[in-house]
Amino acid sequence: MIQSDLDLFDTQPQRLASHTVLLPGFALPVVEQLLDGLRPVLRAAPWRHMQTPGGLRMAVALSNCGSLGWISDDHGYRYTPTDPLTGKPWPELPAALLELASAAAAAAGFPDFIADACLINHYLPGTRLSLHQDRDERDHGHPIVSVSLGLPAVFLLGGLQRADRTRRVPLSHGDVLVWGGEDRLRFHGVLPIKPGVHPRLGERRVNLTLRKAG
Ligand code: SIN
Ligand code: FE2
Repeated sequence: MIQSDLDLFDTQPQRLASHTVLLPGFALPVVEQLLDGLRPVLRAAPWRHMQTPGGLRMAVALSNCGSLGWISDDHGYRYTPTDPLTGKPWPELPAALLELASAAAAAAGFPDFIADACLINHYLPGTRLSLHQDRDERDHGHPIVSVSLGLPAVFLLGGLQRADRTRRVPLSHGDVLVWGGEDRLRFHGVLPIKPGVHPRLGERRVNLTLRKAG
């Protein structure tokens, strides 16, 4: 009895801040469709480690799909319509991913979200992502929709100033986190991924962040 009450509670949307909502397990019903959609994307635009503007190698490996993709090099951070590795347009956003992003945004209170970009991040055990803001998109009026797959992570949800205290938010396979409105420019990051083997994705975490970038 107690266990089933907890299960029920765990799958309810959780409002973490005024415009930040965690949707536990929201992507679980479509995980296989997402993975089917990502396979050709990653064949056309393989994982790579980009350089920060300061010349450091990013620990997270990344790719993109959509009409725009996020890149980093010695000229800075920005969105581009083509993959610098291949010179070709980024692969199309898989329909299942586009639909999931709109449904999750609507469930979190953002009814008209249509993503045009998806940053695909790859974490190995030990990989972390330092605190940053997502601010390279043209219009910050649109939310960010973040889908977690594979190994669990601890997401750091900060404030609007880098020095603000952070809250630790555990993210599991299938969870979707949405932030927008007055929370859109909150600093955020990911603690080092703990060693482990996920039954479906193995020794890795994959995070998909869907944005309206253009
Ligand atoms: C990001 O901030 O781009 C990714 C966040 C995450 O991996 O959960
Ligand atoms: Fe981010």
